[in-house]
Amino acid sequence: MSITREDCLALDASDPLRACRARFQLEEGIIYLDGNSLGALPHGVAEHVALVVEHEWGKGLIRSWNEAGWYVSPARVGAKLAPLLGAKHDEVTVTESISINLFKLLVAAARLRPARSEILAERGNFPSDNHIVESVARLLGKKTRFVPAGEIAQAIGADTGVVTLSHVNYRSAEVQDMARVTEAVHAKGALIVWDLAHSSGAVDLQLDACRADFAVGCGYKFLNGGPGAPSHIFVAERHLGSLDQPLTGWFGHAEPFRFDDGYRRADGIRHMLCSTPQMLSMAAFEKALDAFEGVSMAEVERKGRALGDLMIALHDERLGRLGCGLATLRDAKRRGNHVSLTHEAGYAVMRALIGRGVIGDFRAPDVMRFGFGPLYVRYVDIHDAVTAIADILERGEFKNEALAERQAVT
Ligand SMILES: Cc1ncc(COP(=O)(O)O)c(C=O)c1O
Repeated sequence: MSITREDCLALDASDPLRACRARFQLEEGIIYLDGNSLGALPHGVAEHVALVVEHEWGKGLIRSWNEAGWYVSPARVGAKLAPLLGAKHDEVTVTESISINLFKLLVAAARLRPARSEILAERGNFPSDNHIVESVARLLGKKTRFVPAGEIAQAIGADTGVVTLSHVNYRSAEVQDMARVTEAVHAKGALIVWDLAHSSGAVDLQLDACRADFAVGCGYKFLNGGPGAPSHIFVAERHLGSLDQPLTGWFGHAEPFRFDDGYRRADGIRHMLCSTPQMLSMAAFEKALDAFEGVSMAEVERKGRALGDLMIALHDERLGRLGCGLATLRDAKRRGNHVSLTHEAGYAVMRALIGRGVIGDFRAPDVMRFGFGPLYVRYVDIHDAVTAIADILERGEFKNEALAERQAVT
């Protein structure tokens, strides 16, 4: 029996997270399925940033580094985020970007295993991660080996010092078993750096319970921190005392305002900082985290899976016969919070969809990717998005040549 719009409205009516949608500023008529590239704008963020600009910067001026708490903001915001990651308050800090933080963590991890010559990484991971892996290996005189995520645990060898992979793959949404992979890495005496770009804010992470060593995550996707929001770093407490990260800027110094010539590392997670925090982005991110107040991450994960299951069921009913394929796992337990559909004209179909106010994104060569921000996406949105895709395919609307012209960001 086919799934109706009324079925989806009934699911929304009984959704334990339904009240959270009101925490976001969403334009009427837009179906936003791109929370995995840029989360929606939470209410209160624009006002808070305006206040920081006008009051803290405009009036407080340089005094705000002390009086408005700007100086300690990486630790403060890290502590606010930590419970969403299953981490302790002093194991998380907020700074810079994923790629830069991955660089710092990979070098720091490799320095903890100096006698081991190999970095083992995920083939098919987000390319930026593997570009960084290659560069770190060149810099430190290490070898690299890339294997599919599912084979990482078996591939760890006696030479492997550091392993890195995504917890949720950016394309397939495949989720790795963090506890099992971490245990396999430790059993071989290596260390692991997890990329949480598609996990933080979407999945019920338990970094401490899984014994993760290091992790890096994204502020602008499911955490809704705004374009270019700062990334976050997790370092397990047991490594905090021995870390030696390579970007030894003054914000990671024990006493930056002594202006000593030599570098002395700060104790704890602050050593992972390098430069002056970008305070306007930090302010937006800090305020955006309020949207998660009182929210159970287990519920967020459960709803994300249910939204994905619904999209897959609707795909099977209505899109498969129209030339679409599924590039995501059907098993919800092994799938993160997005669904990827393939179509040979995927780019043009996505442009046509966006023209109708249904916003997802496109990953070359043929993937239309739909990410579900569980705090604001409704079941009926999935129904209406699939109806729009089917209509575009049935009418051949995607054949309009103007839609195939690639924009810089897809
Ligand atoms: C899995 C993954 N890793 C790394 C990155 C790179 O992030 P950044 O631009 O913050 O370096 C992204 C960006 O989308 C990503 O999805």
